Amino acid sequence: SRRITVRDIAAAKERGEKWPMLTAYDAMTASVFDQAGIPVLLVGDSMGNCHLGYESTVPVTMDEITMLSAAVVRGTKRALIVGDLPFGAYQESAVQALRNATRLVKEAGVTAVKLEGGERSAHQIELLVQAGIPVMAHVGLTPQSVNAYGGYPVQGRGEEAAQQLLRDAKAVQDAGAFAVVLELVPAELAAEVTRILHIPTVGIGAGPECDAQVLVWTDMAGMTQGRVPRFVKQYAQLGEALGNAARDFAADVVGGAYPTEAHSFH
Ligand code: KIV
Ligand code: NA
Repeated sequence: SRRITVRDIAAAKERGEKWPMLTAYDAMTASVFDQAGIPVLLVGDSMGNCHLGYESTVPVTMDEITMLSAAVVRGTKRALIVGDLPFGAYQESAVQALRNATRLVKEAGVTAVKLEGGERSAHQIELLVQAGIPVMAHVGLTPQSVNAYGGYPVQGRGEEAAQQLLRDAKAVQDAGAFAVVLELVPAELAAEVTRILHIPTVGIGAGPECDAQVLVWTDMAGMTQGRVPRFVKQYAQLGEALGNAARDFAADVVGGAYPTEAHSFH
């Protein structure tokens, strides 16, 4: 069976079918999601927070994204893999964006790339699409701008902000993006964007009306330490399960219950 393509994604919107997307940062986890039938996996720069131990996505580098994207591609057979362009990899110019997106496609083998920004990133999206690289856009809250926001506030509240979000969504569609992430946007506004656009919207904290939904996998599976955002639903408590496994292993080793005869060679 072949990989999901951007044409399949476009066809899903025409049929009114919703689809799920998860992040993945390694081959093992990606393989589990691929076999579970998740059609699109994002090697998000959220790896900065949840995988690499940074405070935000800002420090993530092209080397890190490229290495982990290659692992996710190797671990999957069917999912469409999207690689995130990290902060500083595309803001300078459309040519810089093309150079880094090309690297991710050639070295890691991703099918598509994602970058943040609406009107402000339209030039970059246009050049990548012209070059034959599918682009997933990302508007609303764009976490790479955390230092400018001074946090992670809900976007598109109030008439002026709502109009800007609509302009951003239309701009990325006009530039040729095949899908657009809407992050932390009021549900009513996300529903309006979803109705207006012919490309699919991928919501995160953007209500139930988007064409697709994405979650950071460590949030979704209860692997994240500490407080999770309100829009997250946890489908497992992997952190607790893994901690218990480690404690049980430790107790067995200290108490002499592991290994036994069954685990030994003669
Ligand atoms: O990096 C990421 O995980 C993302 C998703 C939350 C859309 O950009
Ligand atoms: Na991201």
